[in-house]
Amino acid sequence: MYDKSTLKKSEKLFYVSLPEIRKFVRDFHQEMWKGLCGKKSSLKMIHTYLRKPTGSEKGRFLALDLGGTHFRVMSLELKGKRKTGASSVKTFVLGKKHITGKGKELFDFIAGCIKIFMKEYKLDTGAEYSVGFTFSFPVKKKGIASGVLLRWTKDFSASGVEGKDVVELLNASLERKGLSGTKITALANDTVSTLTARSYEDPDCDVGVILGTGTNACYPEKDREIVNIEWGNFNKQRLTHYDRKLDKCSGNPGEQLFEKMVSGMYLGEVVRRLAKDLLPGINFPKYFKSEYASAIESDTSKGLRKTGSLLKKIGIKSSDYADRKLLKKACVIVSTRASRLAAAAIASVITKMDPRLGRRHTVAIDGSVYEKHPRFSCRVKNTLKEIFGGKARHIKLVLTKSASAKGAAIIAAA
Ligand code: GLC
Repeated sequence: MYDKSTLKKSEKLFYVSLPEIRKFVRDFHQEMWKGLCGKKSSLKMIHTYLRKPTGSEKGRFLALDLGGTHFRVMSLELKGKRKTGASSVKTFVLGKKHITGKGKELFDFIAGCIKIFMKEYKLDTGAEYSVGFTFSFPVKKKGIASGVLLRWTKDFSASGVEGKDVVELLNASLERKGLSGTKITALANDTVSTLTARSYEDPDCDVGVILGTGTNACYPEKDREIVNIEWGNFNKQRLTHYDRKLDKCSGNPGEQLFEKMVSGMYLGEVVRRLAKDLLPGINFPKYFKSEYASAIESDTSKGLRKTGSLLKKIGIKSSDYADRKLLKKACVIVSTRASRLAAAAIASVITKMDPRLGRRHTVAIDGSVYEKHPRFSCRVKNTLKEIFGGKARHIKLVLTKSASAKGAAIIAAA
C-alpha cells in the first residue's frame, strides 16, 4: 500500500524552508531578549554565575553527571595550560524507582555510587573533596553551588525535588553515607559543562549544545556570564498536528515543544505517528525508539533486509520492500526536520553574540542524536551553509564526547 500523495503531503508538512528558518531566528532572538529582561518567555535564559575557564585550572577533582538513565562519576586531573591528565570514570544505571520514585532514594543512590567509586579507585572516603555536579535539568541558580529544580524534564518525576535545592539534597545524602568531607562546590547544566570542557582547550568555543535524550544550549552573554538558554522549551516554531498530539499525550503537555521535535527522547515517537498514517496496514508497537529510526535510516542493505529484521524483532512480522522504503522515508522526513531546526537554533545563538558573523565560533556538541544518527551532524552543517553561505566557515561544530563530567571537574576547579 504505497500512497504517493500522502507521502508528498507529509514531506511538505515537515519541511522547514529557509524563510521559515529566518523567521525562527528572529523569534528566537526576541524570546532570548525577553527571557534576559525577566519578561514572560518560552526561553528561561537562566543565570549560571559561571564564566568560561581560563585554561589554567589545576588539580585533581571529582565530577558527577546526572541527566538521563545513566549516572557517571569521574575523577580527573587538570594540568593547567589547557591540558588534562589521567581520568577514571564509572557509569551506573538508574532504575525506574530512582527516576520516578522518591527524591530521597534517588539522591541516596547517587551518594552510594560515589562511595563505590571512591572505594574502587582507593580514594580516602574520610578526606575532603570538592566535587563538580552536572545536573541536566532546568535549575534556578542561587549561586555557584546551589540551585533549585524548577521542574523535571525528560520523564523524570522523583518526588520532593521540584522547588528544592538539589545540592542540599545531595549533600544530605552524602552525609548519610558517611561522606561528609565530599562536598558539592559547583553545580552546572550539561550544556555549561560541555562548553566549559571544550573551551578549556579551545578559546574560540562559545556555544555548548546537547542533542541527545533532551536538547538545550548555553553561551556567554555580554558581561561574559554563561547563560543556560533551556531552548528545549522554545515554542514559536510551526507545529504539525503530529506534534500537537504527541505533546498532548506526553507527561508534560505544553512544555518542551522544541525538545519534542528535535531530541532523542521523542524522535522515534514522531516517526511512529507519521508512519502510522503512511502505512495504515502496519501495526506499530507503542514504543518506537529513536534508535530504530537511526538504524532504519542507516540501512543500505539489499531490499532493506536489515529494516525487515528490526521490524520482526519489534513484533511487525511481515513487511514488504515498499513498506520498508516508505518507513525509511518517514525517518528521513522527521530527522531532516529535527536537524534543520537544530541548525536554526544554533544560528540564532551565534548571531545573538555576533550578528555579522565576523569571528570564529566553536560549537561544542554532545549527545546521542548528534553522535550516533547517521546523517544528523552532516545535515546541521549543510543547513548552516544554507543560512550563512560562505561565512559558515567561521562556525566549527565539534563533537565533544562525555564532556559533561569533565566540564563539571573544571568548574569545581575554577
Ligand atoms: C532538558 C533539560 C536541560 C538539559 C537538556 C539536555 O532539556 O531541561 O536542562 O540541558 O535536557 O540534557
